[in-house]
Amino acid sequence: MSECILVAVAWPYANGPIHVGGAAAVYLPADIFARYHRLKGNDVVMVSGSDAHGTPVTIAADERGVTPEDVYSEYQTEFLDDWERLGITFDLFTTTHTDNHAKVSQDMFLRLLEQGYIYKDTMQQPYCETDNRFLPDRFVLGTCPNCGFEGARGDQCDNCSKLLDPEDLIDMVCRICHNPPVIKTTEHFFMKLSAFEGRLLEWVRQQDHFKPNVKNFTIGYLEGGLHDRAITRDLSWGVPVPVEGYEDKRIYVWFEAVIGYLSATIEWAKNIGEPDRWKDFWQGDSKSYYFMGKDNIPFHTVIWPAMLMGYGGLNLPYDLPANDYVNLEGQKVSTSRNWAVWIPEFLDRYDPDPIRYALAANMPETSDSDFSWADFLRRNNNELVATYGNLVHRVLSMVGRNFDGKVPQPGELDDTAKELLSEAQQRFDETEQNLRECHFRAALQSAMFLAQAANRYLDAKAPWKAVKGDIEDAATTLWVGMTVINCLKTIFDPFLPFSSEKLQTMLGLEGTVQDEGWVWSQNAIKPGAALPVPQPLFTKLDDSIIEEETARLGK
Ligand code: MF3
Ligand code: ZN
Repeated sequence: MSECILVAVAWPYANGPIHVGGAAAVYLPADIFARYHRLKGNDVVMVSGSDAHGTPVTIAADERGVTPEDVYSEYQTEFLDDWERLGITFDLFTTTHTDNHAKVSQDMFLRLLEQGYIYKDTMQQPYCETDNRFLPDRFVLGTCPNCGFEGARGDQCDNCSKLLDPEDLIDMVCRICHNPPVIKTTEHFFMKLSAFEGRLLEWVRQQDHFKPNVKNFTIGYLEGGLHDRAITRDLSWGVPVPVEGYEDKRIYVWFEAVIGYLSATIEWAKNIGEPDRWKDFWQGDSKSYYFMGKDNIPFHTVIWPAMLMGYGGLNLPYDLPANDYVNLEGQKVSTSRNWAVWIPEFLDRYDPDPIRYALAANMPETSDSDFSWADFLRRNNNELVATYGNLVHRVLSMVGRNFDGKVPQPGELDDTAKELLSEAQQRFDETEQNLRECHFRAALQSAMFLAQAANRYLDAKAPWKAVKGDIEDAATTLWVGMTVINCLKTIFDPFLPFSSEKLQTMLGLEGTVQDEGWVWSQNAIKPGAALPVPQPLFTKLDDSIIEEETARLGK
């Protein structure tokens, strides 16, 4: 029975390029997971889009002297290109700036209003009398009360990371004109989060499959007491509030962005001409997996589930395998200092599979991890080239040279061959189990262990010697090698899709890896089948790239 799996991926703010941290923590794990489930024959819909609204985008627009539309559409185009080149296979990557998204968001807003989960109230908000506007959190700057940093924003201090409210700032000024704002009363809609505290706690306590950090963080957050929050803002960029008299206000970016998971699934269903199909992914037995960085956890484990509970009839998140951060050469990534590796440039200089491999191997699944160029080089040269690539190359080139480019006919299998084939089956199952549980590093490791075992088998059997004497023994060894490579092709496919597709042809197999699915059979490699001339899967990188690449950082 095939399952319906929604792969819901956090929506990147369309205010700057994607960097390795986001790719390793959010988009790549989502893609690996989606690819595995597609191979398995499950129905997968993987959705996300540009988070087009909110102050991150309007601030970028102000700084560049262009409109918010200009900013988000520039990055929308760039993101689509990143996904294509890195092999991130969204079924739909849309934006929050569509009519469909506005409609779905307003519908949810109105339903929650009707149910009494949204209500009107007044609040105090900084107002700039020079610019004649209310100042949202990121539009006020001041001195951080925690660390004394002078450029802290109204929502958070970039120096010490403390979450702030605008009124916490010492000597608050408007970030546009640098004059001190006044405090004015304004009317807004509030989400009655307090009404969901008990239900949320009960729900999250039952989620034994959540990662401990996700579960414990959420329980701690809820036990601290859930306060109602304003879900509209005095802004002109965003989804309009669907209530008369609120024309000058917009729905708060976080409230509408999370609705994107639903609106994007609806848009996807319309696009494929089956407008009701979205329901298969939001109701009944379907399961949803939300991929994000750790700073997004409360929005996905508290606010979004509360909205779904209030709305009714839609599934709550099944799992939220949130990741920690990726540091760079031992330091925190900083976009303002350009201490970052940007995905478009990374892809300009290197192939996608080595990038995917290095990022997956360093995925910050249980703690912050570190990306370094020395590690990238080592992973490429020692693991991809010298272990996996070398295995494939040795086997296929010996078959080409000694067996006329045709799959050799194996003889009786000896114990070492049987042991290797049984290890392959065990690694196949282990990789699958890890993929299902979103343990991506462990899954990748199981696959690499099998490549190492296959190399040891080849070294022991030395078919390059056997071809000169015992040709049948060489034939058996190479056939076993190909059979294990065929297993590796499948278990590495979610991680290294470009290489696995190449291997499919090099192994003389028909169709795509995707057509074949998540299977491994010891009868797939057919003696006598003609093989193309093998091409190397990976390319060795020169040590000099370490210096070249690190020199670009922080410039
Ligand atoms: N744009 C947010 C960020 O980059 C993530 C939004 S996730 C969503 O942190 F679900 F709300 F869209
Ligand atoms: Zn001002």
